[in-house]
Amino acid sequence: MTHTNSSPRAFITGAASGLGRELALRFARAGYRVCVADVNESRASEVVKELQALGTDAFFYRCDVSQDQDLANAPAAMEARWGGTDVLINNAGVAGGGPFDWLSMDDWHWMMNINFAGVLRGCRAFVPGMKNRGSGYIINIASMAGLLNPPGMSNYNVAKAAVVSLSETLQPELKPHGIGVSCVCPSFFKTNLGESLRTPDANTEKNMTKLLENSDLSAADIADAIFSAMQKGEFLVMPHEKARMAWDFKRANLDQHLEAQLILANQIRDRARRKD
Ligand SMILES: NC(=O)c1ccc[n+]([C@@H]2O[C@H](COP(=O)([O-])OP(=O)(O)OC[C@H]3O[C@@H](n4cnc5c(N)ncnc54)[C@H](O)[C@@H]3O)[C@@H](O)[C@H]2O)c1
Repeated sequence: MTHTNSSPRAFITGAASGLGRELALRFARAGYRVCVADVNESRASEVVKELQALGTDAFFYRCDVSQDQDLANAPAAMEARWGGTDVLINNAGVAGGGPFDWLSMDDWHWMMNINFAGVLRGCRAFVPGMKNRGSGYIINIASMAGLLNPPGMSNYNVAKAAVVSLSETLQPELKPHGIGVSCVCPSFFKTNLGESLRTPDANTEKNMTKLLENSDLSAADIADAIFSAMQKGEFLVMPHEKARMAWDFKRANLDQHLEAQLILANQIRDRARRKD
């Protein structure tokens, strides 16, 4: 890939692994220059090498999305390297859950600070520059959990629902400034997300591994769906068909949806086991 000064520029958080890595490769194949922003420096360096092997201009930016300053400084790093940012992808995230009353306030703060406020910090940092230029695109990675709110994952659900809410608020607010917004709500797919899981419950850990393994879509499929949604300017990206059906069902029959969640809730009650 030969880049020119007009090749578009993407800043992707959590790009060292899983969906972020696939997004980095997908955008690179489309001619983007890509900044790999992550806390995991060794994995991020591998991704930068993969991108460079494709002929892509790429660099690593050390960024902990739970730290205000790391994101506040990011637009200047992009400006210095490439003169600005065209696409911001707020993807970095962690996994958590367990019975509601087993979760500590620390569990809640940790989750909200990364999975919600990490996205908020990204938007706060990059929107002013995009507004000044009158163009840009923001992709926020939420989850079906933020729409369907399954039992046993309260802190994860609430953080992702907040990402959906922020994204939905920003979509019309930023449109008059030439800035597009998409919000991505996948259900499970195989990545390294289980490594970050924080839970007091051994059963949540066991389930998480199973759910990540048994997905019908790969991270590369999700990245493809996101890229084409951006091209079409689609707001809500729900790549899994079963999840789309569940969402349609919930919107039409909320009480029945909640009734159906009882099966899962009973399993959580019966199988929860405190970790040693
Ligand atoms: N895998 C799934 O089933 C699934 C489903 C729905 C939504 N998601 C969401 O997709 C996104 C990507 O997750 P993934 O599944 O690719 O997981 P992953 O663990 O493979 O990748 C997540 C990346 O985020 C990075 N990260 C974690 N905390 C960070 C922080 N504080 N600052 C900067 N980087 C940080 C990690 O180092 C890692 O490289 C997350 O927001 C996740 O919630 C995943």
